[in-house]
Amino acid sequence: MLADKNILIGVTGGIAAYKVVEVASRLKKSGANVRVMMTKNATEFVSPRTFQEITGNAVSVEMFGDAANFHVAHIALADFADAILIAPATANFLAKMAHGICDDLLTTTVLACDKKIIVAPSMNTKMFDNPATQSNLQILRERGVKILEPATGELACGTTGKGRLPEPVEICAAVEKIFTDKILSGKKILVTAGGTVEAIDPVRYIGNRSSGRMGCEIAKTAADSGAQVTLIAGKIEVEPPKNLTVIRVESATQMREEVLKIFDSVDAVIMSAAVADFRVKNPAAQKIKKSDEMTLELVKNPDILRELGTLKQNQILIGFAAETQNVLEYAKKKLAEKNLDFIVANDVTAEGAGFSVPTNIASIIWRDGTVESFPKMKKSALAEKIIERVANLSGDRKISTVNDA
Ligand code: PMT
Repeated sequence: MLADKNILIGVTGGIAAYKVVEVASRLKKSGANVRVMMTKNATEFVSPRTFQEITGNAVSVEMFGDAANFHVAHIALADFADAILIAPATANFLAKMAHGICDDLLTTTVLACDKKIIVAPSMNTKMFDNPATQSNLQILRERGVKILEPATGELACGTTGKGRLPEPVEICAAVEKIFTDKILSGKKILVTAGGTVEAIDPVRYIGNRSSGRMGCEIAKTAADSGAQVTLIAGKIEVEPPKNLTVIRVESATQMREEVLKIFDSVDAVIMSAAVADFRVKNPAAQKIKKSDEMTLELVKNPDILRELGTLKQNQILIGFAAETQNVLEYAKKKLAEKNLDFIVANDVTAEGAGFSVPTNIASIIWRDGTVESFPKMKKSALAEKIIERVANLSGDRKISTVNDA
């Protein structure tokens, strides 16, 4: 189940830390590459060497343990992980996590991680029920952190109640589930990617810098989430994902035609393609001969997304806004004019954002004006944020059934 998955287990200082040795062992047997990071308090309960022997990987504890690498360790381990499991998660650790406090290697790594995070709280019942802990858990839940409910039973403090770490087998099942949850199962999603190519003559064209990375990551994430995905791709520099239908197009006119063919049958459209706003009025049939000057007459291309905005019934419509200035202001205008559910705005001049690079820096803007701004993250991680939101929106809208034609 977990073949090729990189799991980072964060162990904090609770008596239940001993149970996590079995969790590490089971995850490893399921095929995962497991690394363990411990808080200093956790090492009072279990020796790092135990985890090292079980996982076959060095265990990280000290922020400044390895002087040569201290400034990168937390970033490297956050990047390594496909998912982080915090078990047991103490009340103190949850509080720090909820409020972004980084005072050791594990808290710092968690803050630097944009992947799936699952926490297994374990503590005395009164500490768990305390409004402070409950409100910290609620903050984490709202940020998409998966919280495992503690079990009820005898606790290390001698009392009986809620607060026990769930059994290792249950924790491992929850970790597997976050990779297999099919939040878009039964949905049909149309994604566009790449740049359109507008012919000047048989050898030259007007194009743009889109590589198709953003759109392909969205299509892949949607398919991995159980959706039936059609990817309509213009010029792209990456291999399109395998588990979906790919339709290749060149021009904006062709993209519009293909999009309109299936628009009625999909639940959501995510237009991440960079569609040219203009095309050459009369492309030459033969290669244009060299001259000192050349004038091209351009005409306006159809605005595909704006057209979908007028046609839409129940479909969810998501657009992108590629801007170089006044990013939020221009994006909000496009959101309204194109009748979208939300728009993903990126400043394509910012370092690590926009065209070609594997990362993006984006804000999601909603119809009510709410703005969610994300730090620089991999396009795959941004794709997950987008797909999670599409899944939430699509929950109560009915359009397609995957088995119909
Ligand atoms: O492909 P990458 O290298 O990974 O780069 C990603 C990206 C920068 C291309 C992507 O993040 C992005 O911003 N895509 C939208 C590019 C764009 O055309 O933005 P726009 O602001 O010009 O258009 C607004 C929206 O209308 C977009 O959803 C676009 O797909 C759509 N549109 C635009 C023009 C047009 N004629 N028809 C359209 O449907």
